[in-house]
Amino acid sequence: MNSNQLLKGKKGIIFGALNDASIAWQVAELCAAEGAQIVLTNAPVSAKIGQTAELAEKLNVPLIYADVTKMEDMENLVSESTNLLGGKLDFVLHSVGMSLNVRKKRAYTDINYDFMHTTFDISAMSFHRLMQTLYKHDAMNEWGSICALTYIAAQRVFPDYNEMADAKSLLESYARSFGYHYGKSKKVRVNTISQSPTKTTAGSGVGGFDAFYNYADKMSPLGNASAANCAAYCVSLFSDYTRMVTMQNLFHDGGFSFTGISSDLMEQFSDSALGKSE
Ligand SMILES: NC(=O)c1ccc[n+]([C@@H]2O[C@H](COP(=O)([O-])OP(=O)(O)OC[C@H]3O[C@@H](n4cnc5c(N)ncnc54)[C@H](O)[C@@H]3O)[C@@H](O)[C@H]2O)c1
Repeated sequence: MNSNQLLKGKKGIIFGALNDASIAWQVAELCAAEGAQIVLTNAPVSAKIGQTAELAEKLNVPLIYADVTKMEDMENLVSESTNLLGGKLDFVLHSVGMSLNVRKKRAYTDINYDFMHTTFDISAMSFHRLMQTLYKHDAMNEWGSICALTYIAAQRVFPDYNEMADAKSLLESYARSFGYHYGKSKKVRVNTISQSPTKTTAGSGVGGFDAFYNYADKMSPLGNASAANCAAYCVSLFSDYTRMVTMQNLFHDGGFSFTGISSDLMEQFSDSALGKSE
């Protein structure tokens, strides 16, 4: 994609680029190509299991490790970032998710509540914590843009998505509720992007991910949106061309969310395909 320097002069923080499959990795690369100055951040443990430092080196940008569940890490991240970038922020991407019950293969009907607490803390409350920190530090410029990534399991049941569905519902609610206050007092916009299934470390951790992925690809008139497509959408939401969009859950899914059935799937479910007689 040719750069249009849509983010020239803008400063931002990007969470969650673990490896080159991560959605945030693609977003960081495109934001840099579009002229933004960015700071990368990820969990301290990612230093051992991920390649965030390689991306920081490649893009020649700072990397600040921060655990999204720790208030002091968020405060340090926000104040260090504004120092390093030499001013307030214009955009922030929250691209963070983790479910302990999914990781430990606990069924939705056999939830461990300590695990659930951690899941909600990392995957949803962290978004509120981030916004509250930015708000209290007055760290965002007017007309700034904050986005978090979510999934349609917040609205419709995908059984294997487990407690992450509930975490995503909460995340989307925070975008609306905080978006009101941030819009009113600082003209900052807040949205969630509901992305197609994408082959990443977090995505592939969900049971039956290949079925989610292939089903959505067959249902969506445009097919699944890739991580690179998502990066382009994020750039548009960080740009000045979407200033009046706020408090929305924006489906970025090739049309999946509004499709009842596709011709590809109809073929698979005809009586003849199912071997049923008239
Ligand atoms: N992959 C998909 O199919 C898909 C679809 C829709 C939405 N999403 C969402 O996109 C976002 C990014 O996920 P991804 O698919 O790129 O996977 P990913 O595994 O590459 O990214 C998840 C990130 O969360 C970070 N993280 C986990 N715990 C953390 C903590 N305590 N503090 C700070 N960071 C922490 C990880 O280090 C990692 O970088 C998530 O919110 C995910 O739910 C993914």
